[in-house]
Amino acid sequence: MKILVTGGAGFIGSHLCEKLVSEGHTVKVIDNFSIGRKSNLKHIKKKIKIYNRDIRKYDLIKNLFKDIDVVFHLAALADIVPSIENPDEYYSTNVTGTYNILKLSLENKIKRFIYTASSSCYGIPERYPTKETAKVDPQYPYALTKRLGEELVIHFSKVYKLNASSLRFFNVYGPRARTSGTYGAVFGVFLAQKIANKPFTIVGNGNQTRDFTFVSDIVNAIITVSKKRKLIGEIFNVGSGKTVSINRIAHLLNGKKINIPKRPGEPDVTFACIKKIKNKTGWKPKISIERGILIMLKHINDWKNAPVWTPNKISKQTKKWFYYLGKNKNG
Ligand SMILES: NC(=O)c1ccc[n+]([C@@H]2O[C@H](COP(=O)([O-])OP(=O)(O)OC[C@H]3O[C@@H](n4cnc5c(N)ncnc54)[C@H](O)[C@@H]3O)[C@@H](O)[C@H]2O)c1
Repeated sequence: MKILVTGGAGFIGSHLCEKLVSEGHTVKVIDNFSIGRKSNLKHIKKKIKIYNRDIRKYDLIKNLFKDIDVVFHLAALADIVPSIENPDEYYSTNVTGTYNILKLSLENKIKRFIYTASSSCYGIPERYPTKETAKVDPQYPYALTKRLGEELVIHFSKVYKLNASSLRFFNVYGPRARTSGTYGAVFGVFLAQKIANKPFTIVGNGNQTRDFTFVSDIVNAIITVSKKRKLIGEIFNVGSGKTVSINRIAHLLNGKKINIPKRPGEPDVTFACIKKIKNKTGWKPKISIERGILIMLKHINDWKNAPVWTPNKISKQTKKWFYYLGKNKNG
């Protein structure tokens, strides 16, 4: 198959490309390298075609869709905290960019389209494990723009019969997880702190739990769903089927801890109900958190140049977050 992966130089995209190449597919990548890195693809760069393009520039990407069978749309701004400060960038990339990819997929009669949505659309869910039918209630611009992208995808499948499905990922982790300059996902933060021999910054009391899903399980889910062509317009949760506390992660990574203030707008629990994807596709997660953490520790050098966050630096970086999402901004 001829496959186009947007965001292929990023964390999940690079693992997806690796798997697609190993299955013998022809792979094209579009990425503007704003976050993604050439080094993520260096081991397969001779086997794929990489285009340094911005998905917001329709005219510069329109020729790349000819003869493509399947589009995996992963390109997005995916760090949560900076989305509060840069809603414009998040909107143009995650919404307008997605619109461009959908339009080009339709014009080029793409046979299958997979969108990578986010569990952040559920906001602070009322029930766990959370089903796909739960209320959608985005709490910050990243969550909102990913949800708007998903609405576009479902709309295109309904109105124009684009053969698209959307996968809502829960807390993905694995080697090559983003190490960019912004304060972000817990594994990147803790592993850089571990290398520097600094304490793990635990948000709140650390009893909050997350559905950590290993990247190879995510890649298998993307490929499995893409092969089921009758799932047009369907949304699926993709999670590990378990939820693990941040304190447990700190314990498994074996380091000292320091507590920092709990952030408003974030749930105490994320926990996917994965019955739908299991029943409809046969996919199931394989990597336990214990095994996943051993793999992360083997790759700890991925984070040796990542920023080392201290409570002070985090407090500065999340100032606007507390201001806009906190209850006290009106005095
Ligand atoms: N990592 C997670 O826990 C998680 C959870 C839910 C959903 N997702 C979604 O999965 C997808 C991949 O996430 P990831 O964790 O690999 O993030 P990532 O930041 O590593 O990858 C995203 C890629 O998109 C590229 N990109 C950004 N703006 C672009 C633009 N305008 N044009 C072209 N390329 C652009 C970046 O350079 C990067 O390589 C994203 O859509 C994200 O929203 C991720």
